[in-house]
Amino acid sequence: MQALVTGGAGFIGSHLVERLLAEGHSVRVLDNLSTGHRRNLEPLLDRVALTVGDIRDAALVQQLSAGCDWVFHQAAVVSVPYSVEQPLETHAVNIAGTLNVLQAARAQGVRRVVFACSAAVYGDEAPLPQHEALTPAPASPYGLEKLTGEHYCRLFHRLYGLETVALRYFNVFGPRQDPRSPYSGVISIFVARALSGEAPTIYGDGEQTRDFVFVEDIVRANLLAATTPAAAGRSYNIGRGEATTLNQLVELLRGLVGAGPAPRYAAARSGDVRHSLATIDRARHELSYAPAVAVGEGLRRLVAYERARMPPDSRMPPD
Ligand code: NAD
Ligand code: UD1
Repeated sequence: MQALVTGGAGFIGSHLVERLLAEGHSVRVLDNLSTGHRRNLEPLLDRVALTVGDIRDAALVQQLSAGCDWVFHQAAVVSVPYSVEQPLETHAVNIAGTLNVLQAARAQGVRRVVFACSAAVYGDEAPLPQHEALTPAPASPYGLEKLTGEHYCRLFHRLYGLETVALRYFNVFGPRQDPRSPYSGVISIFVARALSGEAPTIYGDGEQTRDFVFVEDIVRANLLAATTPAAAGRSYNIGRGEATTLNQLVELLRGLVGAGPAPRYAAARSGDVRHSLATIDRARHELSYAPAVAVGEGLRRLVAYERARMPPDSRMPPD
């Protein structure tokens, strides 16, 4: 198959590209390198056509969609607090950009679009665990933008017959998630801090929960979403179905890396969701999705990956 991966130089996108290539598919990547990096694709660059450009560029997205069987739409501004600060900017990328990708896919006769949606669509209102039939109530511009993208996916299926599948990822972690911004995913930040012996900052009391899921499971879900005929027009939670508090996360990391300084606590972030936990029954039954990597095992792999990348003299001794 010929695939286009938008956001393919990012954390999740680069793992997806790697897997698609390993399965013998041809891959194009469109990424503006705003949070992604060329180095994420470094070992693959001789086999991937990387175009540095923007998903809002209609002509470019049309050109890259031509002849594609699948589009995996991963490109987005991914930070919840950034969307609270800059809603016009995140709206433009996450809604208008997504519409542009769908429109190009429709015009170019793409067989299926798999959209990276988010657990953020549920907001705080939903009872736990969250299932796809609940009425979404986003608590941030980002959540609303992802929900709108998902609605557009469903409409493009209904109105134009374009096959679309929305995957509501919960909190994804793993190698290549960039820790260097305050807006980065919490596990990437906490692992980087732990390995350099710095205290993590917990926003709020640390009793908020997330359903953390390892990136390999997300990649598998994308492949299942692309290849399961009955998934067209559907939305699926993709998590593990397990809640972890941030305080528990810090303890798990201390067990892997060594005690280090105690966490600092700061004010909760505006737009932050308190609890997030998936029911993954729909994905299990309809996609045969089954998460394979436990949180502890994923953390162990991530710590080993980051340790191997550190200069030898800066490595903290293991516990
Ligand atoms: P990431 O920041 O590593 O990846 C996003 C990629 O999109 C980056 O490579 C970035 O450069 C690119 N990009 C951003 N704006 C663009 C634009 N206008 N044009 C072209 N490229 C652009 O983050 P990620 O965690 O890999 O996220 C991938 C997708 O998964 C996103 O859609 C995100 O919303 C979604 N998601 C992520 C999580 C998570 O926990 N990481 C959870 C739910 C959903
Ligand atoms: C994350 C993703 C978002 C995705 C959503 C799905 C990122 C950057 N965000 O949002 O794209 O759609 O999951 O559920 O990948 N925190 C700290 N200290 C820190 C950083 C964060 O305490 O240094 C806290 C936050 O306040 C929050 C929790 O950790 O309570 C998770 O934050 P974060 O990793 O940014 O993810 P979400 O906001 O859940």
